[in-house]
Amino acid sequence: MVCWSGMIGRPAHLGAVRRLLRSFPAVALLGARQVGKTTLAREVATEFGGRARIFDLESDRDLRLLADPEPILAGLRGLVVIDEVQRLPGIFPPLRPLLDRTPLPARFLLLGSASPEVSTRGSESLAGRIAFHDLDGLSLEEVGTPAWRRLWLRGGFPRSFTARTEVASRAWRDAFLRTYLERDVLDVGLRMPPAELRRFWLMLAHWHGQRWNASEFARAFGTSEATVRRWLETLEGFFAVRILRPWEASIAKRQVKSPKIYIRDCGMLHAVLDVGTLEQLRERPQVGASFEGFVVEHAMHALGARGSEGYHWATPQGAELDLLVVRGNRRIGIEAKCTEAPQVTRSMEIAMRDLGLDRLWVIHQGRDRFEMRPGIEALPITELPSLHGQLNPRRGARHS
Ligand SMILES: Nc1ncnc2c1ncn2[C@@H]1O[C@H](COP(=O)(O)OP(=O)(O)OP(=O)(O)O)[C@@H](O)[C@H]1O
Ligand SMILES: [Mg+2]
Repeated sequence: MVCWSGMIGRPAHLGAVRRLLRSFPAVALLGARQVGKTTLAREVATEFGGRARIFDLESDRDLRLLADPEPILAGLRGLVVIDEVQRLPGIFPPLRPLLDRTPLPARFLLLGSASPEVSTRGSESLAGRIAFHDLDGLSLEEVGTPAWRRLWLRGGFPRSFTARTEVASRAWRDAFLRTYLERDVLDVGLRMPPAELRRFWLMLAHWHGQRWNASEFARAFGTSEATVRRWLETLEGFFAVRILRPWEASIAKRQVKSPKIYIRDCGMLHAVLDVGTLEQLRERPQVGASFEGFVVEHAMHALGARGSEGYHWATPQGAELDLLVVRGNRRIGIEAKCTEAPQVTRSMEIAMRDLGLDRLWVIHQGRDRFEMRPGIEALPITELPSLHGQLNPRRGARHS
């Protein structure tokens, strides 16, 4: 049995951040609370030896020090890490002259857990000087594909995944939901009583993998559609929710225009739904939706797709595709099937034709990889990491 008591290596993220730091004077590493940002930043910093300085804006002392950042930061050499940068959004404009120095005495690694705040302010103030890297939960590749069931049940937060027992993992997630999410979300984004936020989570969990229906949510909370949409988008900004926008193909048929919603980390989904073991999960009506969300997250990751490159697609007649990933001329389809023996459906054939997919992968829980129809391939969940590189342009690709 594999033991996860130690650190799980994250070489792809480490390599990506290091590469970005060589090309840009500043890199923002963004991700959910507790996903491992500080740990990764410390590893990046080791390369700089003694020439790395870390500021943590969670600490009042560092917050005060950097209230007037220029005098402190101007004299530093090597790497400067500023953790919890969302606590001091005003820091971006004063960084700008520091990034324009030649030769550059120091590069900056900024860590944040509230995406719109950091990315909007960062890209406005530091355009062309800053690169962004998203840190997801642990991936299938990082934990090793034989552990996929554990990753599905517990999700990808390192503390949840590595906990010694299912009970400890679940307790960690319950505490996470209570403390981090509620506190952060209420502090920074939403003005709503914690009990309301908990109820919103529960409703989201029951809608996981379905189309967002603002009027149902608004009715349930006795508020406006604009308000529930703002709640949803705030959770998206905290990397807690994925909103999969609808794709509109240029075909005569009508197509569904509402987005689909997922709780991004399936471990959190299971905590909200009070699912403690795989056996319990398999008995729940949400098992298919849970697997679908797991596949969506990990397929996006394996393909190296940005959030804006992922869509869902559906027609009112019932044809649908769980995930469509579009980059340039490449169109990749992903279907999740919570079974060991997937079969081709009419819906897959329609999606293949109407969307002009380059390839459709049907991700399943069995062991066999096989061609189901020309262009449609069954792929075991354990082989999901092999999708890496599939979004790259193909030679002789179709141009439209
Ligand atoms: N690769 C890893 N393998 C095992 N455990 C990890 C790994 N990365 C992080 N952890 C553990 O997960 C917890 C959270 O990590 P870390 O503090 O780096 O996250 P963070 O994203 O900075 O969180 P926050 O947003 O709350 O500051 C820590 O207990 C850390 O030891
Ligand atoms: Mg941190």
